This record gives sequence, C-alpha cells and structure tokens, in this order.
Amino acid sequence: MSISNYKPESKSNSEVRSLSAADDSATVAAPSTIDNLPAQNTATPDQLSFAHDAVLLQEAVAAVLGVKSLPENSLQASGIYVDATFGRGGHSRLLLTQLAADAQLIVFDKDPTAITVARELAAEDKRVHVIHDSFASLTESLAALGISQVDGLMADLGVSSPQIDDGSRGFSFMRDGAVDMRMDTTRGQSVAEWLEKVDDETLANVLYDFGEERHSRRIARAIKEMSRYTSTLELAEVIKVAHPKWQKGKHPATQSFQAMRIFINNELGDVDSFLEQSIPIIKAGGQLAVISFHSLEDRRIKQFLQRHSKGQYPEDEKLPMPPNRPRYFSKPKRIGPSKSEVAGNPRSRSAWLRTATRTDVVYQSEQSSESMQS
Ligand SMILES: C[S@@+](CC[C@H](N)C(=O)[O-])C[C@H]1O[C@@H](n2cnc3c(N)ncnc32)[C@H](O)[C@@H]1O
Repeated sequence: MSISNYKPESKSNSEVRSLSAADDSATVAAPSTIDNLPAQNTATPDQLSFAHDAVLLQEAVAAVLGVKSLPENSLQASGIYVDATFGRGGHSRLLLTQLAADAQLIVFDKDPTAITVARELAAEDKRVHVIHDSFASLTESLAALGISQVDGLMADLGVSSPQIDDGSRGFSFMRDGAVDMRMDTTRGQSVAEWLEKVDDETLANVLYDFGEERHSRRIARAIKEMSRYTSTLELAEVIKVAHPKWQKGKHPATQSFQAMRIFINNELGDVDSFLEQSIPIIKAGGQLAVISFHSLEDRRIKQFLQRHSKGQYPEDEKLPMPPNRPRYFSKPKRIGPSKSEVAGNPRSRSAWLRTATRTDVVYQSEQSSESMQS
C-alpha cells in the first residue's frame, strides 16, 4: 500500500513532494490476511460490543443489488457481492437476507476488531468470506479467492462509531487514549510515531490538504513544540489553544484530527485505488454503491463517476478535439439520508450515497487506451 500515486488537488509541487516524502514512511505493506488466518486482535469483549448504526442502510443495500427498494420477502439474488468496509456488519447482514443460498459475500476491513466480528458471522454463514486488508487490495485479494468479477460492490467509507467510541484507538479528541488513529493496528505507523519525525511544513500541509484547516501552519508549529505525543486529550488541548478561531458547536481540533487520521490511513489514496479497480471488477450490469461522509471523499467519487459515465475529464476541456472516452458506468445517482434518519442518527447528516451501474463497455487500462491512440 502506498500513497505515492495520490496527488492532492491543486496543490503546489513542493506541497505534493513533502506529502509524498512523509507518505513513503507512513505505510508498511504486509500480506493480506484472508479468511481463516488469525488477525492479531487484542479486543476485549467490551470493545467488540460497541455498536455502529449503519447509515443509509436500506438505500445502499438496494443499490448494490440494483433494485429501487428492498422487497418484504428476500430477493434471493445469486452472484458475488463485496462489502468493502464491514465495520460491525450492518450493511452485510441486511444484504445477506436478500441473497440466495448459493451467493457469496466477500467482506473487507482493515480493523482487527471488525475482522473478529466478521469471522464470527462467517462461522455462522458459509456465504461469507473475510479479508483482513485494505479495499485497495481488491483485485489481488479477490483473485486469491479465485474471483475476477463481482455483481455488486459497496463501501461505507471512513471510521465506525466503535472506533471513535474506544478512546484507546486515538480517533477521539473527547476521550483520552494513545495518539494512534490507525484503522489497522497490526501494521503501519501510528500518528504519534509520525509526529515525532515529521517537519512543521509537511505537518501543516497534511492539516490543510486533509482537514481543510486554514490555520494549519500555526497549529503545526504548536504540535511540533510538544515534548511527547502520548495523549489524545493533550494533543487536542494544544490544538485548541493554538487555534485562533473557534466555531460554535465544533471542537477546534476536529479538522486537525480528521486530517491526521486521513493521512495516516492513506484514506484518499485507498479510495482512488478502489474506484479505479471497480471498473474491471464489476460485471456488466453490476452495481457500485459508495457512502462517504466528507467533501474530500464525496468529490472524488463524484468526479470518478463524471469521468466514467459522462466522459467529463477536466483535462479534456483544454483540448480542441476531446477524445471519445469510454463510458464504463451509467445512471449515476446521489442519495442522502431522510430527515427521520438524521433525527435518529446525527452521524448520518453528512452522508451521501453515490451509485452507478456498470455498462458493457470492455475495460481498457489508461495505458492500453493511450497506446491504441498513438
Ligand atoms: C463507516 S464504517 C462501516 C460500517 C459498516 N457499514 C456497518 O454497517 O457496520 C467503516 C469501516 O471501514 C473500515 N475501513 C476504512 N477504510 C478502509 C480500507 N481502506 N480498507 C478496508 N476497510 C476500511 C474501517 O475500519 C471501518 O470499520
């Protein structure tokens, strides 16, 4: 896993370079853990019991099955489906109720605790196969199961409530814990390890690029003046003191914590890679359904679908004769939560589900289509 192919939008080369330099050390590739191999899990029963309210549940499951709404009786859909972000399995469990006995559901998660829960489900339901890895390993991990194409692919991006609620994971600025923030605690470096090494400028760029934090330089300097990075509450307090403009109802560390989390988990690089791999992986007539929670992610999904369903490539606008681009997806749609869902689960208020149907246009990699044109 590497974020070397990730480029922040409209940033200077020096910013891109400083990010890439830090990224090289941010992630250490490890072989994916498939199905019955043990995940290194240190979760206690209490941690396992943290609940997650699945967002846009009915809508996402209907979308991945290619139906407008779910019938009262099971659809009994055959085929192969992927839930790329198992979490506590809210979407997977509903999807399973709609699948036939011969269907398969492949679930991914980076998080060892989520994987423990997924394995419990797999032990009860033989249709479920579990992959402990990033969804950026989609093609490779499915190939290891002998699968080259699927009928439906869904992802519910970001962190789960159990990850935030467990202070020891380091995602929360409201609960004390180690400054970790890794989704996969079995590999890669923690935010604390990264903060020890990173320079002020790179840190400021990360806070700006991934948290849209306008006071990134001042906050980065204050963070780098800290003598240790052992407590999320201490880190949040330093950011709070350094932040010159507090917004009502929002902790001043919100954006900085989001930025460090996105960076250390290579979240945007993984999403880009996942979306690109979805083109050859989804069968003609199959479905893509992705839920995102912030504009950095939603914009990428929107632009991906604009390129591959409408042929709208920003770089083509400067060309006198834009090339005829393949349309790999049709019917892109955006669905938001209902008022009642937002009332019942405030976390859903910023969620968008984007869906599309794979066309029958045969996939050509960018490289092979370039060599055909020249
Ligand atoms: C919002 S939660 C999903 C919740 C799930 N849909 C449910 O109903 O319980 C996101 C999950 O995706 C996982 N995740 C985030 N990025 C990932 C990635 N690149 N690869 C695999 N899993 C990832 C997180 O560890 C987390 O468990």
